[in-house]
Amino acid sequence: MLQDGYGRTITNLRISVTDRCNLRCVYCMPANPEWMPQPEILSFEEIERIARVAVSLGITDFRITGGEPTARKDLPELMRRVVAVPGVKDVAMTTNGILLKKLAQPLWDAGLRRINISLDTLRGEKFVHIARRDGFRETWEGIEEADRVGFRPLKINMVVMRGVNDDEIVDFAEMARTRPWQIRYIEFMPLDGDGTWTRDQVVPAREILGRIHEKWPLDLVADGPLSDPARIFRFEDGKGDIGMIASVSEPFCSACDRIRVTPDGKLRTCLFSTWETDLKGPMRAGASDDELRAIVRGAVAKKEAGHGINDPDFVKPVRAMYAIGG
Ligand code: 5AD
Ligand code: SF4
Repeated sequence: MLQDGYGRTITNLRISVTDRCNLRCVYCMPANPEWMPQPEILSFEEIERIARVAVSLGITDFRITGGEPTARKDLPELMRRVVAVPGVKDVAMTTNGILLKKLAQPLWDAGLRRINISLDTLRGEKFVHIARRDGFRETWEGIEEADRVGFRPLKINMVVMRGVNDDEIVDFAEMARTRPWQIRYIEFMPLDGDGTWTRDQVVPAREILGRIHEKWPLDLVADGPLSDPARIFRFEDGKGDIGMIASVSEPFCSACDRIRVTPDGKLRTCLFSTWETDLKGPMRAGASDDELRAIVRGAVAKKEAGHGINDPDFVKPVRAMYAIGG
């Protein structure tokens, strides 16, 4: 078992397979990001090895992220390899959905069963404003294709930003009622590439919930499974449910069970870590699995208590979301 210094058991590893993306969402990337040089990016073999080592330490659940994971060449082949690692229980993926029209079926065939798709607006013109690229139609078609292929639960992530898309909170709730999808509202976190995050842009989960509740009353069902920071609310009339990820206003760090690997092979014990632990260097220098396990254990032992967003001396992390692995 992998335990940190606060007694939390780490069972979940999020692997960012590329920092690249075909969008430039304002809450994630700068307008003109500098991509990591290709030789720095982990190979499929290296990713598979990290997954094996992670499993040997007690990690069972994996999420493939980016950047945009579908921007990684031959992603279905990588997926197949990760799914096939003995001891892996669950593999999920977070994507912007743009390439799913083509990739949903191959990813399913590779063994993937769970997908979260990011969608922040239902309006084409606003999509361009938020993502700095056109792509609403492709994203929507990607969602419908993932639905058709059979991904369940199909989760839609909406990052809520005051004055940007908070006027669509109820429209998204309606989608949760009319489609077999779970809408998850995510508070805007200070991980934006431009570093322009301010607290007043955060719409607290309580407020989001209040606005939906006014129209369609909701009941708290439960906190999700530990690996899922979402609190689930069900419409009183039984027509679907929604999730709230209150990372800023109600941090769930004390139940955190996850660590991350960046595209360039750095282990991160928190999205907001100010330090990283290199895995790629040792791997390429011939480290044994035992040596890698010791490196992971050492890093996890120092996993921070929490993200500290609400502390007066909070310092924003240097890496933005796309370079960490959401
Ligand atoms: N705050 C909250 N969520 C974010 N995401 C990316 N950047 C941020 C941020 N600054 C979300 C994406 C995606 C997931 C990987 O993280 O929308 O759904
Ligand atoms: Fe790309 Fe996702 Fe970041 Fe948007 S949030 S820029 S889709 S990696």
